[in-house]
Amino acid sequence: MSTSTTRFLTGITTTGTPHLGNYVGAIRPAVQSSLRADVQSYYFLADYHALIKCDDPVRIQRSTLEIAATWLAAGLDPERVTFYRQSDIPEIPELTWLLTCVTGKGLLNRAHAYKASVDKNLETGQEPDDGVTAGLFMYPVLMAADILMFKAHKVPVGRDQIQHIEMARDIASSFNHLYGKDLLVLPEAVVDEQVALLPGLDGRKMSKSYDNTIPLFVPQAEMKKRILSIVTDSRAPGEPKDTEGSALFQIYQAFATPEETAAFAQAFADGIAWGEAKQLLFERIDREIAPMRARYAELIANPAEVERILLAGAEKARAESAPYTRQLREAAGLRSLAQAAQGAAQTADKKAALPVFKQYREKDGQFYFKLSAANGEVLLQSKGYANPRDAAGAIAALKQQGVAALAGVMAQLETLDSAQQQAAEAALQQLLEAAQD
Ligand code: TRP
Repeated sequence: MSTSTTRFLTGITTTGTPHLGNYVGAIRPAVQSSLRADVQSYYFLADYHALIKCDDPVRIQRSTLEIAATWLAAGLDPERVTFYRQSDIPEIPELTWLLTCVTGKGLLNRAHAYKASVDKNLETGQEPDDGVTAGLFMYPVLMAADILMFKAHKVPVGRDQIQHIEMARDIASSFNHLYGKDLLVLPEAVVDEQVALLPGLDGRKMSKSYDNTIPLFVPQAEMKKRILSIVTDSRAPGEPKDTEGSALFQIYQAFATPEETAAFAQAFADGIAWGEAKQLLFERIDREIAPMRARYAELIANPAEVERILLAGAEKARAESAPYTRQLREAAGLRSLAQAAQGAAQTADKKAALPVFKQYREKDGQFYFKLSAANGEVLLQSKGYANPRDAAGAIAALKQQGVAALAGVMAQLETLDSAQQQAAEAALQQLLEAAQD
């Protein structure tokens, strides 16, 4: 992968039904940034996280469908981004364990969500950990695995999640310190100040927990009813109205162009009736949402289609997570015993025993490379490249990234059976470790 692209990754917990606040605050900006040429995006349904908050299987399944359909209907292109369901990636719980073993318990004691539960228990005279599952306690480690598994640089999240990203960095640093300095990429949180925090029907932040939301894909009539119930002050038609502090105005603004917003503000100053303002708001939102609503309905009616898209996404994700996890396991010492024996022999004469890359030109005028073991056995054999720089590029990628680069080069290699593949991967890992020493 080119080094100039930034990897964005974010997860959506599958416990609810998306509302306008989710759309404006997360979905719409994510879809927009996924279209940028310099961005590589990973979006996933965090259904393992959902289990921590919700023990209703029907609700989890339904929410997974609704959230997947919402993102697709909102324009996320699964060909362009990697869109998958967390529980389809077995490497995530595997990495969670590797990370658990380098995570200080004290770090987790300080997590806001956990501390809030403990504080609440203490206030009400309960045992500190009353009702706290180990899942809740481990939440930040699972989240770190989500992020680190795909080498994310940037993680767009709400403010409440910043601490979790910082913990992911801490955990990654501990792992790298123990097992190799560049194994895990340290992620950064991105909190977009531009993105509006949408007020709900009652003027407080739109949130499921306040029961003040406008669901994104309710039928038109229902959407209108909700909008009509937005709380306003009691000013009569003809009286000038304040835009400041008006939930109605803020929601409008989140959907409108600056020109439309200015016109709406003028209408407020001119004393537009609240009923009329609500009608305009409904029309403005509906203009954006109506086309998506049709696609959403189609997807909800075809869950098998959504399932197919998610499984294809998982396959794409696992092409990265599987080899990378092998590399991380190796680094931590979960290794083939055959290879360990070899490794021990090498300590005596490490350099001499390393596999080597060789690039050369054949009579056909094409450029080739191969990777050979110290004993001369050929481990990887490339097909011909027209351009020597491409062959050199492939070698460089394999040297720098080891097994992680193998998938990208595979099409240019002579076919490997699984034993050959294992030997080649072990050799690449060995080279990577030697380079880090
Ligand atoms: N914890 C996040 C939330 O509640 C959801 C989530 C799970 C997530 N894994 C993630 C977000 C990884 C970003 C990256 O919003």
